[in-house]
Amino acid sequence: MSDQLGLWESVASGWERRRAFVWGVSHEVGERLVDALDPQPGETILELACGPGDTGFMAAARLGPAGRLISTDFSAEMVGAAERRALELGLGNVEHRIVDAQAIGLPDSSVDRVVCRWGYMLMPDPARALGETWRVLRPGGRLAFSIWAEARANPWGSAIWRAAIELGFIGPPEPDAPGPFRLGDVDRVHALVAGAGFEPAEVTDVPVAWRYADFTEYWAVSRDLSSSLNALLQQLTAQEFAQAQERVETMLAPYVTAAGLEIPGLTRNVLTHKS
Ligand SMILES: C[S@@+](CC[C@H](N)C(=O)[O-])C[C@H]1O[C@@H](n2cnc3c(N)ncnc32)[C@H](O)[C@@H]1O
Repeated sequence: MSDQLGLWESVASGWERRRAFVWGVSHEVGERLVDALDPQPGETILELACGPGDTGFMAAARLGPAGRLISTDFSAEMVGAAERRALELGLGNVEHRIVDAQAIGLPDSSVDRVVCRWGYMLMPDPARALGETWRVLRPGGRLAFSIWAEARANPWGSAIWRAAIELGFIGPPEPDAPGPFRLGDVDRVHALVAGAGFEPAEVTDVPVAWRYADFTEYWAVSRDLSSSLNALLQQLTAQEFAQAQERVETMLAPYVTAAGLEIPGLTRNVLTHKS
């Protein structure tokens, strides 16, 4: 098993447990992605890196019984979570598959649209994944995907890394290592999209406010969702762990409101097509 796959398998149960929470704070990202994708009845849509699957399932609802969603993730555990969610929703037009987005394994020009929420920046080779996406899309087919903006616009996910670096527990991140904020540079996104053969992309900012009851809930949710956070915390002594936690709490103090903790975030939705 690759390191990346092992990391994602380890948090698949956390993503399933926190599915409603994540969708609750981020449904607008998924809704806007599916609106941009504009699924039509009878079409075939491929979702890459589906996690528990909600974005693709919203698209599936627009495809009708003659259409088909191929809901995929490279983690078998995530695909299992998506299968259980599709059953709960009673969707009859969804096929589930284990697929690495960097080697999709479908024929050329075989799908009408592709959707991928928060996936490409996590893959070792996003250019290859985008090239594969272009290959399986039919001419005229659309691609809609989401990525996170740069780390400073996303303190919900970057505070712990800043804290660990400031405290000297880790060095600066490897440039271009897979991670949530790796495609925060919009020029790079345009270059990757064009490099894979796609038409010029439309990029739309979508704010995401992460709302928690308090810091304790923030910490628990973050640990459920982030394998790299858990890997980092496992390297720390008990004293370092406590220091890191305290530093993050201090960093996030400006976001305490009367209702709890509301930490800003910024996603970018990207729409393009194959000519
Ligand atoms: C941040 S989660 C997003 C899940 C879901 N799309 C959502 O928006 O809630 C990232 C997902 O990407 C998947 N993933 C990471 N690398 C992948 C790859 N190379 N191919 C396919 N899926 C991948 C992980 O297993 C995980 O489910």
